[in-house]
Amino acid sequence: MAWMTLFFGVAIGILLAIPAAWGWSRRTERRVRQLEARARTAERLAELGTMTGGLAHEIKNPLSTVGLNVQLIQEDLADLADVLPAPPEPEDGQTLPQRHGDPPRERLARIQKRTDGLHRETARLRDILEDFLRFAGRVELDRQPTDLNALCDELIDFFQPQADEARVKLRCDLHADPAIVSADPALLKQALLNLLINACQAMTLAREKDEPSGGNSELILRTANTKSAGQDQIAIHVTDTGPGIAPDVLEKIFQPYFSSKRGGSGLGLPTTRRLVEEHDGTLTVHSDQARGSDFVITLPMG
Ligand SMILES: Nc1ncnc2c1ncn2[C@@H]1O[C@H](COP(=O)(O)OP(=O)(O)OP(=O)(O)O)[C@@H](O)[C@H]1O
Ligand SMILES: [Mg+2]
Repeated sequence: MAWMTLFFGVAIGILLAIPAAWGWSRRTERRVRQLEARARTAERLAELGTMTGGLAHEIKNPLSTVGLNVQLIQEDLADLADVLPAPPEPEDGQTLPQRHGDPPRERLARIQKRTDGLHRETARLRDILEDFLRFAGRVELDRQPTDLNALCDELIDFFQPQADEARVKLRCDLHADPAIVSADPALLKQALLNLLINACQAMTLAREKDEPSGGNSELILRTANTKSAGQDQIAIHVTDTGPGIAPDVLEKIFQPYFSSKRGGSGLGLPTTRRLVEEHDGTLTVHSDQARGSDFVITLPMG
């Protein structure tokens, strides 16, 4: 009797284990497939990044030659305008007969206007390519022990005139201890500068449009020590008292080419996030509508 119970027990155990094992192997298989697909996508994106970066470079070089030639033509046209004889003065009440179309000076002015347009457009294309390359190009960090407090001090000095012009009060609230991180100071400054510029622009625009905001146009650069998963970190806050960011906009601000500004490239924040992530850090934002925004760069210490 005992062996019958044992037999049924084992049989039921096996019967229950089969679907569980089958389910487990299916889940593992699905997970492996997902990981493989993700790896393929990452590989493809990396390839695409290299290709588009290369393409942008290839376009940039001939474009600068075009720009330079347009500039030379502009100079030649300006010389020509100096030597071209002035049109004869018409006698009272008389209009001069027009031969061979418009008078040469008018034709020259028209050509100059067109070349000015060409010059503007090539410069605009060059700016677009440079923004793209800053965002998508290869980043090579020249890491060195960097005191973030000293870096913030330098940045404040550099940015002060721009803040004054925008009538923004710039404040600095740095942690008392030195905050040493292994970083590329120039690239980190570029990342922080993007945030300071955005904050200033947001406050100026809100003031101009009389939009509700946090008030007295204040921009604060603050450092603080934090800890995450036992790792000492330093957080740099760029806090403004601007209009804040609406939740539907907040979802998009790190997407490449999203901009709410006329003439904005929409690559400032994605580039900043990329630079911070290259430093093994994070860039996050907290924003309250009509009160302001707080962008936080967190970097590992040491
Ligand atoms: N401090 C801020 N306050 C309010 N909105 C902000 C702030 N910073 C960023 N934004 C929003 O995020 C968008 C994207 O910013 P991002 O820096 O990427 O591009 P941009 O500033 O529009 O263009 P660019 O950086 O080329 O001048 C901005 O257009 C703006 O809508
Ligand atoms: Mg910007």
